[in-house]
Amino acid sequence: MINVPRIPLNDGNWLSAVGFGTWMMNDEQVRSAVVESAQLGYRLFDTAARYHNETGVGQGIVSSGLPREDIQVTSKVRGGDQGYEETLRAFEATRRNLGLEYVDCYLIHWPLPRLDLYVETWKALIHLRETGAVRSIGVSNFSTEQIDRLISETGVAPAVNQIELHPMFGQPQLRADNAERGVVTQSWGPLGRGEGMLEAEPLAAAAAAQGVAPAQVALRWIYQLGAYPIPKSGDQVRRQQNLDIFDFELTETEMAAIATLESGRLGKDPAVDEEF
Ligand SMILES: NC(=O)c1ccc[n+]([C@@H]2O[C@H](COP(=O)([O-])OP(=O)(O)OC[C@H]3O[C@@H](n4cnc5c(N)ncnc54)[C@H](OP(=O)(O)O)[C@@H]3O)[C@@H](O)[C@H]2O)c1
Repeated sequence: MINVPRIPLNDGNWLSAVGFGTWMMNDEQVRSAVVESAQLGYRLFDTAARYHNETGVGQGIVSSGLPREDIQVTSKVRGGDQGYEETLRAFEATRRNLGLEYVDCYLIHWPLPRLDLYVETWKALIHLRETGAVRSIGVSNFSTEQIDRLISETGVAPAVNQIELHPMFGQPQLRADNAERGVVTQSWGPLGRGEGMLEAEPLAAAAAAQGVAPAQVALRWIYQLGAYPIPKSGDQVRRQQNLDIFDFELTETEMAAIATLESGRLGKDPAVDEEF
């Protein structure tokens, strides 16, 4: 079993350095995936109201048999539930679906600037943290300007900003801005979402030199940048690979070669695209 480092957060809590992504898995798939992943050493499971699989994630967590305090679950408020009262209601549904007393990390899924409700939504998250229903609160797909607005209007900085981040979209400025504000950067789509990135030459070359798989190189690259990936896999051998990134180190030359893959985002642009 792999021991995954715990990353300190600005609220005194911690975040597992690699988590397990669950997007596109249904309740049944995710239930067994969580149990099997926990056996490998995964301690963080990433879901969202929008993934419609919180029930399976929660059942998997209970079935894993691990002490509750050793395991973490992240969930997210979807766009259509933004607003103060709406978010409190949405959280109760999330908590009920998960079947857990508290949620470790609760994020605003997308900023949706056109709605201009993310500050009210953030106030609801602060309230949930104060009541103990949520341990850590954060955001996803937020820009520096949006994070600064949260801080200036509420005095509370997010613990986490979960953003698209992989060798084709390294987000150096946003990572630096997050770090300056004490916000931990978490990486979604770390493997390039299974869309061919892993075959690229710099990843293949580093993988051959290090004796690991290209996916491990991509995840290690993210980790060495000071960000924390949440890869998804339906396959137990790949899940093992994706967690096993702590006993090799990429050289500066390998890090730089991988950065040349920069070609832009694969997912939606949070400044203009909307997701409810
Ligand atoms: N906050 C947000 O807005 C947001 C957006 C997107 C995703 N997320 C979260 O981030 C998680 C990860 O992102 P993602 O699922 O989009 O993409 P990803 O983790 O980058 O890529 C998943 C793809 O990579 C393949 N894969 C996994 N491990 C592999 C390995 N070792 N070697 C080769 N291929 C491998 C998977 O196939 P197999 O399953 O067949 O192994 C799948 O096709 C999501 O599951 C979700 O929890 C958050």
